[in-house]
Amino acid sequence: MFFASDNWAGAHPAINERLLKESTRFAAAYGTSELDRAIEQRFNEIFEREVAVFFVATGTAANSLALASLAKPGGVTFAHSEAHVIEDECGAPDFFSGMRMSPVPGALGKMDPKQLRSRIARYPQDAVHHGRATAITMTQATEVGSIYSLTEIEEIAGIAKEHGLPLHMDGARFANALVQLGATPAEMTWKRGVDVLSFGGTKNGCWCAEAIVFFDPEMARELPFIRKRSAQLFSKSRFIAAQFEAYLQDNLWLDLARHANAMADRLRAGLEASNSARLAWPTASNEVFAVIPKSTAQAAEAGGAKFYDWLEPHDMPEPVAEHDLLIRLVTSFATEPQDVDAFLDVIAAG
Ligand SMILES: Cc1ncc(COP(=O)(O)O)c(C=O)c1O
Repeated sequence: MFFASDNWAGAHPAINERLLKESTRFAAAYGTSELDRAIEQRFNEIFEREVAVFFVATGTAANSLALASLAKPGGVTFAHSEAHVIEDECGAPDFFSGMRMSPVPGALGKMDPKQLRSRIARYPQDAVHHGRATAITMTQATEVGSIYSLTEIEEIAGIAKEHGLPLHMDGARFANALVQLGATPAEMTWKRGVDVLSFGGTKNGCWCAEAIVFFDPEMARELPFIRKRSAQLFSKSRFIAAQFEAYLQDNLWLDLARHANAMADRLRAGLEASNSARLAWPTASNEVFAVIPKSTAQAAEAGGAKFYDWLEPHDMPEPVAEHDLLIRLVTSFATEPQDVDAFLDVIAAG
């Protein structure tokens, strides 16, 4: 009953096998091997255009270095107020980019376009005292389990283009959003106006594989230096490439995300039908937020369930009562239907 995070899951056997195979070979270092090149080429196919790809170890690194590549002195980056880049990365994006974040409110973890416009208006390009609007970053799927529709992405991208700002997407759960929308990787990114993507593999079955993808390779000119100076250029980079090879082969990544989402659907359906729990808000990916009595949460934890308590967001549709608890439940490629059913049984008995 592991619902604490998709980071708690192991790595998929196909990825482990590929790593094992790689471990007996010699190959050129620092991202120059044939395998690194081949996987870069694979990203071109997946995104249906020539992209520039850079492998890094963590999602925080992908976000931070992507934003660093867009930086300007006095720059301001706009992100949802509860975005991972604001709340959960210890200021790394600000540190690496030298820019600061401006939080944008919006329901269900998505930036409200009107609010975004009014935030951007506070930082005109010539306002030297305030700093200047420089980049926008959005998260897909969001930190609260929702998903921007293609039209919503286009709307945010439209605002970015209107103001001449590049748009970054934090895709730590890119695959979960993609399969949910039934879109292609190109449709969910550059075809809607996304310029740079943090492409996550770790949460969805890799051991440690994240990539920064630039849809205009010209924009990536500084990234090799930014990555090296940030200590993210791996000598044995090909082990990240090897993980991506297995991950992207025969659409494994999409199958794993479909499975994680299906497990979340099962969990949502069970919680909806339950008398002792309610869904906190609608979600569409592999994250589910529920309100359960504190006593039930204690019983579930005593029964071996792992999950995190969650801070009540400002726009919580129905506030959490004193005797209740808001919890986050995350499913992954490794979640089994019986884990979900066992958890629902514990909740029902609680
Ligand atoms: C939305 C989002 N972005 C980025 C990350 C990347 O985090 P990490 O640096 O832990 O790989 C996470 C991980 O929880 C996340 O949820």
